Amino acid sequence: MRKPLVAGNWKMHFTVPEGIQFVNRLRPDLERYARAVDLVLLPPSIMLWEVASVLRTSPIRVGAQNVAWEDRGAFTGEISPAMLAGWCEYVLVGHSERRHIFGESDEQIQRKVTAALRHGLRVILAVGETLEENEAGRTEEVMTRQLSRALDGVTADAAGRLSIAYEPVWAIGTGRAATPGLANEVMGMIRTWLAGVLSAGRAQETRILYGGSVTPENARSLMEEPEIDGALVGGASLKADQFSAIVASTADSMAAAQG
Ligand code: PGA
Repeated sequence: MRKPLVAGNWKMHFTVPEGIQFVNRLRPDLERYARAVDLVLLPPSIMLWEVASVLRTSPIRVGAQNVAWEDRGAFTGEISPAMLAGWCEYVLVGHSERRHIFGESDEQIQRKVTAALRHGLRVILAVGETLEENEAGRTEEVMTRQLSRALDGVTADAAGRLSIAYEPVWAIGTGRAATPGLANEVMGMIRTWLAGVLSAGRAQETRILYGGSVTPENARSLMEEPEIDGALVGGASLKADQFSAIVASTADSMAAAQG
């Protein structure tokens, strides 16, 4: 059985002191669930090192929200995978805000995934269709395109450090989450695609998270779906009680599934 993973994407929120204070407050609540759920916080890069230092003795892991594809050089404003390796375990790549606001291309995302995996980082690759694509019935086509481009050249072995986050663009920050059934269906399709491209075993082991308006109210019903292995949480990860409640629901639904 796949161990669920819940990641909190803080996006561009909190000052450094606020972020540190928040982690200290959240930590005791979250750590109780660490045996059942892998926990990851994705703070803004300016406080990543500090948050990682606070969590050095904690089972809670940290991750970056973005990464460059080169190790070093004249890339103003970027943070390289070589700089993260060794102390920052995860990195989020391909978030829809990076794709749509900052214009990241499939090719850039592929280079980021490859570079991060080469440095031993764990990659959470986010994919998702827009409302227009969804309404045109193009979800499968878009998923296949985003995945095949982002994972071009990634071996089944390297994909041992990969998770996928299915985040329909229309569900992010809108309060309108995908229904559990729809999310499960798309994620099942993603897993089938992974089996064909990587290996059946690797596809079975790969965690596929749901993201987009996850709340304490809908977390349980999402996590009960067989293909959903956790959550990528934005807004609700900024509220300690809400994020803890989502993690608790994830742990509960896993315990229930195990009987
Ligand atoms: P949301 O964001 O939970 O605020 O919808 C999810 C995400 O962007 O990862």
